[in-house]
Amino acid sequence: MSSAPLGFFDSGVGGLTVVRAVQELLPSEDIIYLGDTARLPYGSKSPETIRQFADEDVRFLLSKEVKAIVVACNTATAHALPTLHSKYRIPIIGVIEPGVEAALSEPSAERVGIIATQGTIRSHAYQHALAQRRTGLVIYGQATPLLVPLIEENWIEHPATKLVLKTYLDPLVEKGIDTLMLACTHYPLLIPVLKELLPGDIRLVDSATTCAEHLKRELTRRELLNPNIGPGILSIHLTDFSEQFGELASHFLKKSTGRIQRAVLG
Ligand code: DGL
Repeated sequence: MSSAPLGFFDSGVGGLTVVRAVQELLPSEDIIYLGDTARLPYGSKSPETIRQFADEDVRFLLSKEVKAIVVACNTATAHALPTLHSKYRIPIIGVIEPGVEAALSEPSAERVGIIATQGTIRSHAYQHALAQRRTGLVIYGQATPLLVPLIEENWIEHPATKLVLKTYLDPLVEKGIDTLMLACTHYPLLIPVLKELLPGDIRLVDSATTCAEHLKRELTRRELLNPNIGPGILSIHLTDFSEQFGELASHFLKKSTGRIQRAVLG
């Protein structure tokens, strides 16, 4: 079982930021990645729809005989993780808990800002997870729906993106946040711009690296780490494929994706 692949899913190719972080930490793991590009975005859809999509995504990965699944999508984690845990026995890891643990690993964190899709903010999943672990925290959730399209256009350094970021973030900065949680798969790509725009004492916590560390601990605890020494193989499956997704995927992965396969769910 330990030499079986890991399964990852996301609404699109943004979850490849999590794959990249996992490949750095666990280079021998084989990975099957499913991006539900035919039905993205998930961030603006209802909780019921996201639960249905997430269930179909999990069933696709189970058909590939994966040993564990990473929900590499903050919106899907926010809406569907508890349901998936109650339905399936395979280890399923989301991106919220690791991010929250990382945010609170700093004992002085008191005022936490969260930026994410509408769906993630409205679910209150981050707000609950933070408040449950530390009393007295002041938490501000800010939906930032324009960021995913801007990143997908590769407008990361564009003045329009900086203006949008400032409009979203200035109110959080005025409220005196000491920590900003980047609660969306795409946002690690914004880190250089965020460092430029935000006061230097605001700590940035992203879900990609924290999820990779959490996954490593879980696989070690369950004795599921791949014993092979060679580099793992990544297979990417998308429910819709266009040249744009191919380019975007290499951008998120920071290297060539290899051949992308078409996934049929259902
Ligand atoms: N993957 C989504 C998330 O992390 C962002 C893109 C979408 O809305 O589908 O919330």
